[in-house]
Amino acid sequence: MTLSPSSFAAIAALTRRETAMLYEPGKEYLVEARLLPLARAAGCEDVDAYVALVLRDRVHQQAAMDALTINETSWFRDNAPYQAFTEVMLPAMLQARAHTRQLTIWSAACSSGQEAYSLAMLLDQHLPAGWSARIVATDISTSMLERVRTGRYSMVEMNRGLPATLLVKHFTRVGSEWEISADLRSMVETRHLNLAGPFPALPTFDIVFLRNVLIYFDLDTKRDILRRVRSVTSPDGYLLLGSTETTLDMETHWIREPAGRVQLHRPIAGPTSASATAVARAPQTALTGA
Ligand SMILES: C[S@@+](CC[C@H](N)C(=O)[O-])C[C@H]1O[C@@H](n2cnc3c(N)ncnc32)[C@H](O)[C@@H]1O
Repeated sequence: MTLSPSSFAAIAALTRRETAMLYEPGKEYLVEARLLPLARAAGCEDVDAYVALVLRDRVHQQAAMDALTINETSWFRDNAPYQAFTEVMLPAMLQARAHTRQLTIWSAACSSGQEAYSLAMLLDQHLPAGWSARIVATDISTSMLERVRTGRYSMVEMNRGLPATLLVKHFTRVGSEWEISADLRSMVETRHLNLAGPFPALPTFDIVFLRNVLIYFDLDTKRDILRRVRSVTSPDGYLLLGSTETTLDMETHWIREPAGRVQLHRPIAGPTSASATAVARAPQTALTGA
């Protein structure tokens, strides 16, 4: 089965329109590999026929978009962000929110939930008695959100970054899978959210993990998402991006604050106050008005 150039162009355009993800020429093999099982299941004679079906049928379109999102994730991915979470962001927020004793955290583009549950495990360990935390886990993929809600992981997934002590503490074996405890699941609520579209009503977040998703978007989309994420982040809150993602090449009205091996991002109050805020917060690095 081969994917014709016109089918590739059509599915790439659809994916871009629906998810903002870019599939550039050269990625035909990837698209074909991901759509082939769906084409077979739908009884199509080849991937081209399946693409034609996807273009006219909303249900198949949803399945194709799910298949084309890249869901790579792991527990405590890259470690350093989680270290910064417990050593920098959480202590700062415990001080700043002492009056409400409530933290609200966003795992944006959460995939199968390892990021949200890694944060839940750290909160379970470090949140003082009398505090509560709400983790909102969002993704464009409905099948990923279903996985977060189920909270079950294969042995292969468990082996990707989860310390044995935390496995023993928070998971029970169910058949060939491991299920996360109800306590941690109750901390995490799932919502469908397309980062590239208008956001639904959201709470104001103290900490946002927006990791390993901006890499799939073009510059304007990244800039727009960062602007809108800022609008739902508390003025004294934090944003964390993936280790290969940066805001250095764009005007985003976030400033960078080094914390160990990671760069935290803090919102700048208003579009015109960028340079003033950056100076006031020296020695942090201004990202705006590059
Ligand atoms: C590579 S995973 C990153 C998971 C996790 N944040 C991490 O760092 O391990 C990227 C996730 O972004 C989601 N995604 C892709 N396009 C999206 C969009 N437009 N809106 C929201 N989520 C999107 C995918 O479904 C996938 O679950």
